[in-house]
Amino acid sequence: MTKILAISGSLRRESFNTAILKTLGEGLEGVDFEIFPLADVPLYDQDLDTATPPAAVAALRQAIRAADGLIVSSPEYNYGISGVLKNALDWASRPYGQSALNRKPVMTLTASPAFTGGARAQASLHETLFAVGARPLARAQIVVALVHEKIKDGRLVDDATLGFLKAGAADLMKEIARLKVAVEA
Ligand SMILES: Cc1cc2nc3c(=O)[nH]c(=O)nc-3n(C[C@H](O)[C@H](O)[C@H](O)COP(=O)(O)O)c2cc1C
Repeated sequence: MTKILAISGSLRRESFNTAILKTLGEGLEGVDFEIFPLADVPLYDQDLDTATPPAAVAALRQAIRAADGLIVSSPEYNYGISGVLKNALDWASRPYGQSALNRKPVMTLTASPAFTGGARAQASLHETLFAVGARPLARAQIVVALVHEKIKDGRLVDDATLGFLKAGAADLMKEIARLKVAVEA
């Protein structure tokens, strides 16, 4: 079964980004889907980045390593990704040259109440993913604009948006399959 790890860049209890990931995960068939909670990941400190890093960091790196692919969703904070997400990606980027993110296929999305849907944050998310050797999907950006109108009771209820997200997830599955074939060849 394909293993997908999802990461939400928001810690908010009623986060729209987390709600989208939950709804998407429930709708994916034949996929082992898990959302990794970032609440316990401490602020990056190179002094703590040793052979025995903080437990939440070790767990994050292990979960990324074990996944065939990632789905990363971020809010846009002041035109960038959330500090919470950048912090997690910084931890996951190390040790240098041995990052769990290296060569990992990643579907990205952003969600915002604004009509721009967090498009600027997503561009910056791609920059960070490229920097660490991950492989964000080469496809049209998935942005969820006016997100507050599309979530009800913690679930994404807009069918058009869900269809768009599922198309992205299908592209992620294809990329995972393509990379597996390349590794086995
Ligand atoms: C510090 C801060 C900065 C924000 N900056 C932006 C922004 O630049 N662009 C935008 O579209 N929304 C911005 N927002 C609104 C967020 O997109 C909105 O709060 C969103 O719902 C957060 O995601 P969540 O629901 O997953 O927690 C900002 C919110 C905060 C708290």
